[in-house]
Amino acid sequence: MRTDLGKMPFGGDYNPEQWPREIWAEDMRLLKEAGVDMLTLNVFSWATLQPSEDTYDFSQLDDIMNLVRDNGMRVFMATSTGAHPAWMATRYPEVLRVEFDGKKRKFGGRHNSCPNSPVFQHHSAALAEALAKRYQSYTNISAWHISNEYGGSCYCENCEKAFRVWLQRRYGSLEKLNESWNTSFWGHTFYDWDEIVVPNLQSEHFAETRTMFQGISLDYARFNSDSMMENYKLERDAIRRVIPDAQISTNLMGFYKPLDYRKWAKEMDFIGWDNYPSYDDPYYRTAMCHDLMRGIKDGQPFALVEQTPGVSNWHPYSALKRPGVMRLWSWQAVAHGADTVMFFQLRRSIGSCEKYHSAFIDHVGTSETRVFRELKILGGELAHVGDHLLNSRTNAQVALVFDWENWWAIEFSAGPSTELRYMKEVMRYYEALHALNISVDFIGADSDLSTYKLVIAPVLYMTKTGHAERLKEYVRKGGTFLTTFFSGIVKEDDRVVPGGYPGELRELLGIWVEEIDALPPDKHNRIVWSGKTYKAGLLCDLLHARGAEVLSTYLDDFYRGMPALTRNRFGAGEAWYVATALEAPFYISLLKSMCDTLEIGQVMQVPPGVEATRRSKDGRDFIFVLNHNETEVLIETDRGMETGMVDLLSDRILRKGEAFGLEAKGVLVLTSGE
Ligand code: GLA
Ligand code: ZN
Repeated sequence: MRTDLGKMPFGGDYNPEQWPREIWAEDMRLLKEAGVDMLTLNVFSWATLQPSEDTYDFSQLDDIMNLVRDNGMRVFMATSTGAHPAWMATRYPEVLRVEFDGKKRKFGGRHNSCPNSPVFQHHSAALAEALAKRYQSYTNISAWHISNEYGGSCYCENCEKAFRVWLQRRYGSLEKLNESWNTSFWGHTFYDWDEIVVPNLQSEHFAETRTMFQGISLDYARFNSDSMMENYKLERDAIRRVIPDAQISTNLMGFYKPLDYRKWAKEMDFIGWDNYPSYDDPYYRTAMCHDLMRGIKDGQPFALVEQTPGVSNWHPYSALKRPGVMRLWSWQAVAHGADTVMFFQLRRSIGSCEKYHSAFIDHVGTSETRVFRELKILGGELAHVGDHLLNSRTNAQVALVFDWENWWAIEFSAGPSTELRYMKEVMRYYEALHALNISVDFIGADSDLSTYKLVIAPVLYMTKTGHAERLKEYVRKGGTFLTTFFSGIVKEDDRVVPGGYPGELRELLGIWVEEIDALPPDKHNRIVWSGKTYKAGLLCDLLHARGAEVLSTYLDDFYRGMPALTRNRFGAGEAWYVATALEAPFYISLLKSMCDTLEIGQVMQVPPGVEATRRSKDGRDFIFVLNHNETEVLIETDRGMETGMVDLLSDRILRKGEAFGLEAKGVLVLTSGE
């Protein structure tokens, strides 16, 4: 998000429309005291802005806009279309979604509009345009926030019709579609487009991810993601027509399966996302979400649009963020590429389901709370750091491939194991790299590989057209590639590439996978790597080397002695294959040795439980040191640091060779001394 603040925006969702006007002035005073300078406004006000089909009423929003402008606040202006008004649902039931089991919704909740309802499409775009026209002269609007957390899916008749149109565009002919969906299986051949129905519990599915026909289910996932993206684009373009240089975005949700965020990212001026880790999420998991959100837009800094200052109401346990944690997690976002630090919400509501979700201003209504005091300190730090970090980049040398269509396909797959989860497999590699303090970029199947020394694609089940060629090219020129079991199996339509696994990756990897053994959770095989024995499970490929060097073999069962880890020299580079899922320490050992060989350096050597990341700008490095431990740790400044580093948060100068204690939950933002 570009702003004229000269610093990272600090603030979040503010809902004065839920409050009597008498307290608005006090809100402004308190928020300024905390250092807030960015307000996300107008997120859920559609019913107020449009009390009936033919009337807009902007009077209250005018007052809010004037109030915040007069108080020097910048605005992230939402369009309010994340929840439709009740009159619209009553008058046009088509705006209501139909659920996966075929149940038609009544009015209620939010994120509740059918993406293919012409009524919803018309009114949402019209409202976005009306807002843009009304507020185009407000120069304190920094960016536009379309809808809110797009998500879910719909299976209504409008969607069914739109799906057929989408399919006609994709396939051109029914022959092509029948072939791709393999409809000769069970005699599902279609002779008329109108015979195609939505794949849900009433048709091809017997559970959310269990489908008889992967082809149609995959296409519906693509179609659903595209449908919502079209909603986003309709509103975006309506705003753009009025304000050609508007910056436009929405708030994403990290590893959110239903929407292909990499595709969405191409339509967004910047990525915004909402970070709500659970109290027991490991911190590397949060780091991974941030890295994904940076990665989908090729490394461009993202906006942290929401996080809770203290508690959220919707986790099973509303555990408090312990003292220091809100600050630590805010800096963790920045450490991974955030250029804003924003929250949900600024004043805690008194009714409905978010009244126990914390806020800058709590029910007590004063600044005399622990949470407010911690926020104020953070606000001060962001002001103090100024523009140093803005638009700085993470220059990673390791890339992890993450692809949404692959995710859908793996988890729609009938076999080989219901335990196989794409994100979990990706996380095995991420966790190890993170523990080694090695920066990682998430890339897609179509991303440029040339800047990476190591590209890892766990479970590259769906090998998209051209991807294998690009990977070969990359390795041929000296790159190192690593992939795993259940890769290269199918193309975009989930039909198997005949001729032996891993399909188009066979030559690159120099192997042939003959069989795949799925091990139940209580069973394991074993392998030896670098002198240590590791348990292997989930899936074990039974493979033959076809040119690749065998680095490790299975120790047990009838496939004892068959390769479990291989390396193939290909052109000037290498292609590695990990044939099974292993215990966490294996990945640390493997990746450490690979990164050492490739001279991929750690950001900095730090004690366990401490995260170190780097962002760089104009030739200057910024090293973030984040102590996630409950105890103080000793940071040794001769490890990876230059002479005379300065901590941007405290202005403290750290001399080379100096060791000092970093308190529990403590943060350093180090850069070379002036
Ligand atoms: C989401 C929404 C917000 C709010 C928060 C509560 O992120 O975007 O409107 O409901 O959750 O955690
Ligand atoms: Zn629908």
